[in-house]
Amino acid sequence: MLQHKIAELKKQKNAVILAHYYQIPEIQEVADYVGDSLGLSQKAAETDADMIVFAGVHFMAETAKILNPSKKVLLPDVNAGCSLAESCPPEAFQKFINSHPDHLVITYVNCSAEIKAMSDIVCTSSNAVAIVNSVPEDKPIIFAPDKNLGRYVMQETGRELLLWDGSCVVHEAFSADKLISLIQQHPDAKIIAHPESETHILKTANYIGSTAGMISFVKQHPEHKFIVATEAGILYKMQEAVPQATLIPAPAKEDNNCACSECAFMKMNTLEKLYNCLQMEAPEILVAEDIQNKALYPINRMLELSAH
Ligand code: 13P
Ligand code: SF4
Repeated sequence: MLQHKIAELKKQKNAVILAHYYQIPEIQEVADYVGDSLGLSQKAAETDADMIVFAGVHFMAETAKILNPSKKVLLPDVNAGCSLAESCPPEAFQKFINSHPDHLVITYVNCSAEIKAMSDIVCTSSNAVAIVNSVPEDKPIIFAPDKNLGRYVMQETGRELLLWDGSCVVHEAFSADKLISLIQQHPDAKIIAHPESETHILKTANYIGSTAGMISFVKQHPEHKFIVATEAGILYKMQEAVPQATLIPAPAKEDNNCACSECAFMKMNTLEKLYNCLQMEAPEILVAEDIQNKALYPINRMLELSAH
């Protein structure tokens, strides 16, 4: 069985498999650690394995490589990108920064290494509010690339942020109309949402947080009913954490089989590709040395600010 072969190869090569909550269940099962972007960066920073296999998307593997320049970092499918990272091209972002030279640059981890290299601090959805709050109040801030997360952080901190106009296709796919009729059908359900979702979806939510935050929230109400507005891959670990709870994915605008929203990039990774990648030690993620050196500082700033 492929999962056993993967476990065997992993041991032989002293590799660690880090997986995001949006991966398919079979991959989550063979992973050494499954988590949100912050947890995954923290694990990548502290691992003593020789090789990191990142079951996630390109910017996540790149972040792991920046933190571990001497280790081999592999991504099962090199085409597993991210619409949010794509929405912030380096040349245009450099111009944006240049036209606001007095601003501090905070970037959401869902961006390329080139964008991180232009940043002062990186953040994830679980620490964005705290990181913005750590900046002196009179310092103007550029926040990129996710405008939805940026608006949420503005609301939570009461601060004005200069937002880049980027977004995630998966979290902008939720249908407000279908969500409202679902709420009417399940008036007892709590709505939990990821802050990459649009403001009108977030307005309906009882809890807003990162994928790990959403799992922690449902654990506090283990027998409740939840409507879950994030990528549907999270349901696997969430249901495992709260077997008695009823979990209903928030519906997408498009009529699809799962009545949910799935990230096509995250789902490019398969068990077979994971096996092949471990065996062939490819595709390997590489970051140019100058970008790597510049991008390390804002990632480390985030890890320091999130250490407690
Ligand atoms: P978190 O798991 O950090 O909440 O991020 C969600 C996401 O969209 C990752 O691409
Ligand atoms: Fe990018 Fe959205 Fe997919 Fe996350 S869910 S990897 S933000 S496209």
